Amino acid sequence: METVKIGILGLGTVGGGTYQILEMNKETIEKRIQKQIEVVKVLEKNMERVKALGLPESCATTNPDEILCCPEIDIVVEALGGIEPSSTFMLTALNNGKSVVTPNKAAVAANYAELREAAVKNDVEFRFEASVGGGIPALTAIQEALCGNEFTEVMGILNGTTNYILTKMTDLGLNYDDVLKDAQAKGFAEADPTADVEGIDVANKLSILMALAFDKYVPPTEIPTVGISKITMDDIEAAKEKHCKIKLIAHAKKDGDEVSYSVKPMEIDETHPLAGVSNEFNAIYITGNAVDEVMFYGKGAGALPTGSAVVGDILAIAKAL
Ligand code: HSE
Repeated sequence: METVKIGILGLGTVGGGTYQILEMNKETIEKRIQKQIEVVKVLEKNMERVKALGLPESCATTNPDEILCCPEIDIVVEALGGIEPSSTFMLTALNNGKSVVTPNKAAVAANYAELREAAVKNDVEFRFEASVGGGIPALTAIQEALCGNEFTEVMGILNGTTNYILTKMTDLGLNYDDVLKDAQAKGFAEADPTADVEGIDVANKLSILMALAFDKYVPPTEIPTVGISKITMDDIEAAKEKHCKIKLIAHAKKDGDEVSYSVKPMEIDETHPLAGVSNEFNAIYITGNAVDEVMFYGKGAGALPTGSAVVGDILAIAKAL
């Protein structure tokens, strides 16, 4: 059976989850794609992570070139997070003829055109399903099953950490700081949770969604963004009295050639489907001129849900190799 060789940059929450899924579902994957997937190198300096996943220590390196320039590696998974050096690593891999898969929304949103153009120029694939909505396969759906639509509106809950915090504050009256620590311990939050609680992570994801759905790239820094760090229990109680729940909402609407967009906390009526999206779950509503309204729902953060989307991208590329 043919073997497709993978290098993973970063064995944190998502890199580790990706490796776990490739091991846990090895037989099923081989049967489905009729190819073996082998992780041959990981960029990771924390040997405890390497050992905990059962990877041979010889697989680990602290030199990115051992992955980016390795002739036997077909696909590079970039799971380091942050814009740099991740973007440079991905461009190097693409320019070296390797396909790239990433959950890194900050890097994709910041360098969207450059990364996609490098993939086209080098005749390789660049896939980033896990960058928006964790395990929810919305990006693939927008580009494939729903590709015949003109999209007019995108609306969603796109951050697991903030949705987890708001849910626990609303349903259990828990304290903001305690729930944030809990979300960090569960692997939902970014290394610096400011990106979560200030809405920056959601702006990155909305930028990617707009680029795909409306063919319009808006840099995340230009999206008006308000996070949840100033939401108090009084705000939550006031919303409850109006039979509403506070949710951090990403919204973009296309009207002719004009697109309006924002990220902000909103009071959502308890009867609205988005009000029922709790904890680390995400939901993405998209309206197309043929399909009408479609809603995607699933876990937006966490090692295995996000790893699921990364593995889906790896297998799509491996099948086509
Ligand atoms: N920190 C992100 C979240 C991880 O909480 O949604 C998934 O993108």
